[in-house]
Amino acid sequence: MSDKKIIIAIDGYSSSGKSTMARALAAKIGYRYIDSGAMYRAVTLYALNNGIIDSQGNIDLPALVSALPSIRIDFKPMPDGTQHTLLNGEDVETEIRQLRVSDNVSPVAAVKEVRTALTDMQRSLGSDKGIVMDGRDIGTTVFPQAELKIFVNASAEMRARRRFLEMSNKGDIVNYEEVLANVVRRDHIDETRAESPLRRADDAIDLDNSQMTIDEQDGWLEEQFHRALNR
Ligand code: CDP
Repeated sequence: MSDKKIIIAIDGYSSSGKSTMARALAAKIGYRYIDSGAMYRAVTLYALNNGIIDSQGNIDLPALVSALPSIRIDFKPMPDGTQHTLLNGEDVETEIRQLRVSDNVSPVAAVKEVRTALTDMQRSLGSDKGIVMDGRDIGTTVFPQAELKIFVNASAEMRARRRFLEMSNKGDIVNYEEVLANVVRRDHIDETRAESPLRRADDAIDLDNSQMTIDEQDGWLEEQFHRALNR
């Protein structure tokens, strides 16, 4: 293999399986994997835990903006090859995946100052290339120069079913209708916000993985990687 390293941007709708495929590809090709959604989730958790979001979901915007410099996000590699999200040094990987955070993350991610702060961090993580990053605006805003851009979609019901199974398997008590409602609501907020809305980059390759197994999508992505590397 050549020493050439590229940037791979994987964007798409909530629970579309982006993270699973991004993580698997990064491990296989020896690239760094960054889950940009985990960063938005960590900021949301910080806001929830510090009274910046009330029980009705209202955000105290000035408080959120002034808290941003006190929020540090790191990723800690785990022995099993995954990585955990650290918020100011504390492992919050489990908490950020819970519905309490999912229910509040899209309004937080719509705040311009939050996006600017996290986009800067994401760009610096990718400054040496050799990175796979997944999210909503990686191919459009964070790395418009990425050599490979993928846009993933699947039906909302299929995505909700996957997320429901993933959470139930972890022991979370959730009901399918609630998960589906969250997926649909986040899609809507993510697509209609003013700042970097969820949008397919013009030069992205589409993937609808509704009918694909994980092995099939991993194989498909690896093939796209080799093509991009040789372009
Ligand atoms: O894994 P899932 O698809 O549920 O979502 P995620 O990737 O963890 O992202 C959580 C939320 O963060 C999304 O619904 C978006 O509101 C926001 N997000 C964003 O605005 N921009 C990104 N690059 C990544 C996530």
